[in-house]
Amino acid sequence: MISWFTILLAALGYFLFFMFPLNKGAPFIPNNKRKIHSLVETLQGMKGKHKFEKAIDLGSGDGRVLIALNKEGFHCDGVELNKILHKQSIKKIEKAGLGDVCTIFNEDFFKINLNKYDLIVLWQSPQIMSKLSQKLKIELKKGTVVCSYYFKIPDLNEIHNKDNWHIYAI
Ligand SMILES: C[S@@+](CC[C@H](N)C(=O)[O-])C[C@H]1O[C@@H](n2cnc3c(N)ncnc32)[C@H](O)[C@@H]1O
Repeated sequence: MISWFTILLAALGYFLFFMFPLNKGAPFIPNNKRKIHSLVETLQGMKGKHKFEKAIDLGSGDGRVLIALNKEGFHCDGVELNKILHKQSIKKIEKAGLGDVCTIFNEDFFKINLNKYDLIVLWQSPQIMSKLSQKLKIELKKGTVVCSYYFKIPDLNEIHNKDNWHIYAI
């Protein structure tokens, strides 16, 4: 006989699998204003050397990083797997008046080709970094800048490191 405990456990497992797809990337932990400001400042300082025509936040959560970047003149899209966060971030970009300048895809970023982007921002889990590194090396153009919060990406050329942002150039 199926007990309430089994049903509860199954519901919890279902919830965790969809809310925190650990095999696909990091769960949602929003970055804080100070760290986002630090990233924006670093990227502003790199503008002379890099064009930064199109950026994307891989796992854009509630949209706070891409909103901050767009407000500072970086054209930044997002991709977010979680449907609830995706909807929430769409509402936030519309409220910020950025609905026409950026797109947030509700998708697994491993399924998106990143070759049109020259700036990649992410905060992902160490478990997926090797797989992600392979993808970035195959798809990205030379000169593309990759900014990873907290966790390092193996086999990429780190050119800068500030406030836990690891900055790489392809
Ligand atoms: C640590 S949070 C970072 C959120 C946001 N970038 C920020 O810095 O505030 C990681 C986000 O990545 C999303 N995510 C994890 N794996 C993903 C995947 N494979 N494709 C798209 N989004 C993913 C999670 O749902 C979560 O919102």
